[in-house]
Amino acid sequence: MTRFDFIVIGSGIAGLSFALKAAELGSVAIVTKRARAESNTAWAQGGIASVTSAEDSFELHVKDTLEAGAGLCDEAVVRRIVTDGPARIRELIEFGVAFDERELPDGSHELDLAREGGHSKRRILHARDLTGREIERALLAAIERAPTVTVFENHIAVDLITLGKLGPASTDRCLGAYVLDEATGEVATLRSDRVVLATGGCGKVYLYTTNPSIATGDGVAMAWRAGARIANMEFIQFHPTCLFHPQARSFLISEAVRGEGARLIDGKGRTFMEKYDARKELAPRDIVARAIDAEMKRTGARCVYLDITHQPAEFVRERFPNIHETCLGLGIDITRQPIPVVPAAHYQCGGVQTDENGASSLRGLYAIGEVACTGLHGANRLASNSLLEACVLAHRCCAAIAGQPPPAADSALDDLALPAWTSGDAVAVDELVVIYHNWDEIRRLMWDYVGIVRTDKRLQRAAARLRNLEREIAEFYWGYKLTTDLLELRNLATVAALIVDSALLRKESRGLHYTLDHPEADPSLCLATVLRR
Ligand code: FAD
Ligand code: SIN
Repeated sequence: MTRFDFIVIGSGIAGLSFALKAAELGSVAIVTKRARAESNTAWAQGGIASVTSAEDSFELHVKDTLEAGAGLCDEAVVRRIVTDGPARIRELIEFGVAFDERELPDGSHELDLAREGGHSKRRILHARDLTGREIERALLAAIERAPTVTVFENHIAVDLITLGKLGPASTDRCLGAYVLDEATGEVATLRSDRVVLATGGCGKVYLYTTNPSIATGDGVAMAWRAGARIANMEFIQFHPTCLFHPQARSFLISEAVRGEGARLIDGKGRTFMEKYDARKELAPRDIVARAIDAEMKRTGARCVYLDITHQPAEFVRERFPNIHETCLGLGIDITRQPIPVVPAAHYQCGGVQTDENGASSLRGLYAIGEVACTGLHGANRLASNSLLEACVLAHRCCAAIAGQPPPAADSALDDLALPAWTSGDAVAVDELVVIYHNWDEIRRLMWDYVGIVRTDKRLQRAAARLRNLEREIAEFYWGYKLTTDLLELRNLATVAALIVDSALLRKESRGLHYTLDHPEADPSLCLATVLRR
């Protein structure tokens, strides 16, 4: 058993930001399941939303966030996160993040602010179209300089260790985590009174997603098994514009492209967003994604197109170098041709329910970043509010912990030896095909039955099938030696079931949850969906 003052699971913006602060309070283990830079963060394109211009105001950012959230945001939390934003932006800049600037007529510089859907002002700080990569680079460089931080790469957290799992306990609490070392196949026991989930989202639960392979919902699944409350999982955000190309299934075409005036058109070159919302291409994402879905269903087309050819080619190449180069590599010159796009699963608005400082309902367990449900996003996240929430909550969580009595003072469990992981009679997985088959089945059924437009019947069908899959996977889990693939499959099945169960409970349409059986919002249902094992 190895003891740390803090265990942080995940090395995206949330985990790294927290670890950098916690390093000043004690020893920190960062457990991350692939190479340290692999995260949704590193893929973020558009940028980070915060009020940094004199033409903008906290009130407007709050208003835009509440409007996108379709009545389900916690207004107090929204205000706190929005007003904390500028201080966290300054900190990111101090850590070395180079946000784009523009030159003013007098030769001085100011931050170059972009616009995205649902924002009434230009307020998105960005590093061209590679904002996440720049943030991840700077935070990892700062971590290198933090002597009390140990990074365990290629180590996947298997499960949380709780007092309740060790025997009867009047009040449960989190005591640490079991962690699989991919290289050796050994499971280590990490002990800490402060375990921080920063594991990101669950895009991989859907067949088509903008997310990289790490996004398998592990944090939500582990927290669920540990007995923490999980909220609002029915609200899965579909990004309207994922590149439609057989060789680039997950590549995002940033909303910032629409922020620079790009229009959505059908195969015949006709615009259609004006039929759906007065804000057209810059309506919130739920509206744009549903509009594209409706157009594709109506016309039978396999994609729609995003056209930015009205902008000078030089501007497009300079502002969106990553998108330009990636598309060019696939034979699409975005300065001259419209880009084929489709909606794809992008962001998990729900997650482990926390207070405004990242504390979950299980003592000793915290959740920050995409894995958490703080109340900021409600039924639909406003573009670029995710990176903002992650760094604000990392700061608030660490500050709140620093203000509490040291763990030893409130813990009678200091000398408790946690049991080592035992594999029993488990044997090595001999039929990988079962894992891959179940993985495909979950992703396809979620796409077909639990997508942008839902019905009760499709959800019930998905729920029944998922129960069978969960049973099959549980047999596998207990009979075979652990591998990352097996752990991720188990977590995907759990998270898929949580999404479906939450969706079945919400008998209305609100924000990202749209069902043909209950097409209107019901004011009496304007509450979070909370599930507990
Ligand atoms: P992540 O950055 O996803 O990090 C999760 C970490 O946890 C990873 O290191 C992962 O390996 C690790 N992990 C997961 N499970 C385990 C486990 N069991 N054991 C150990 N480690 C584990 N948001 C914005 O605000 N602005 C944008 O412009 C923007 N663009 C985006 C573009 C794309 C293509 C995508 C996919 C997302 C975008 N988002 C954007 C969303 C945003 O990037 C994410 O919500 C945010 O980066 C999440 O940060 P995080 O630290 O919570 O999680
Ligand atoms: C994008 O660049 O379109 C992604 C922004 C976000 O997810 O917030």
